[in-house]
Amino acid sequence: MSADTETNTPASPADHWEARYAQSTRVWSGRVNATMAAVVAPLPKGTNGTALDLGCGEGGDAVWLAEHGWQVTAVDISPTAVARGAQGAAQRGVAERITWIAHDLSTWTTEQTFDLITASFFHSTVEFPRTEILRRVVAQVNPGGHLVLVTHVFESEADIPPWASRRDDGTPHMPHMPGPDHDVNELALDPRHWQIVTSEIRTREATGPDGVQTATLKDGVVVATRLN
Ligand SMILES: C[S@@+](CC[C@H](N)C(=O)[O-])C[C@H]1O[C@@H](n2cnc3c(N)ncnc32)[C@H](O)[C@@H]1O
Repeated sequence: MSADTETNTPASPADHWEARYAQSTRVWSGRVNATMAAVVAPLPKGTNGTALDLGCGEGGDAVWLAEHGWQVTAVDISPTAVARGAQGAAQRGVAERITWIAHDLSTWTTEQTFDLITASFFHSTVEFPRTEILRRVVAQVNPGGHLVLVTHVFESEADIPPWASRRDDGTPHMPHMPGPDHDVNELALDPRHWQIVTSEIRTREATGPDGVQTATLKDGVVVATRLN
């Protein structure tokens, strides 16, 4: 966890993430997350083709969604990340298809409804009411629409890639991330209104930021469809 170096108090989530993005010109690849693309590609767009991307980071998924016909709202707590997303969208010619919002999702509400809500690796090492956020936003999914979650699954330290950030003692910051069934239990979606279509772990080969190290990663995938 990052901290204010003068007072040694933990950084607020907003300060933590803003500092994380500000420390380099790009944190993520800028490309869509492969598992998210594979899961979303066959989904119907519903009446309006509206999508909400939670914790959009630098916008790789949001830009891909826009390029695939969705009208996207992309939200992240870091203004720097959101600005990079907007820049990427302009470069790829989809600026008018994405509304970028820099806001803490723990206090963000909207009247708008969506045919798709996505959250890729919506994780944090600082204070983060993730389940509360997800449970609130699912109320905004239109009937026939979908919630798609893609998560890191670290069932043991062996699942954590060698390039993941570590503490001074060498232990990783995110030692246990239990996976999609846990997410489904936490969300506790009302079965009268929701169907869990997918709750599974997929593996994929990944290359680290140095372009050399490789690892087999586990992605948790949850797809829930709103019935009515
Ligand atoms: C692991 S990153 C994933 C980014 C992006 N979805 C991707 O796959 O590249 C998690 C993201 O969640 C954002 N985030 C963390 N806490 C948040 C909050 N309370 N409200 C909004 N965004 C938040 C962070 O700024 C960060 O961009």
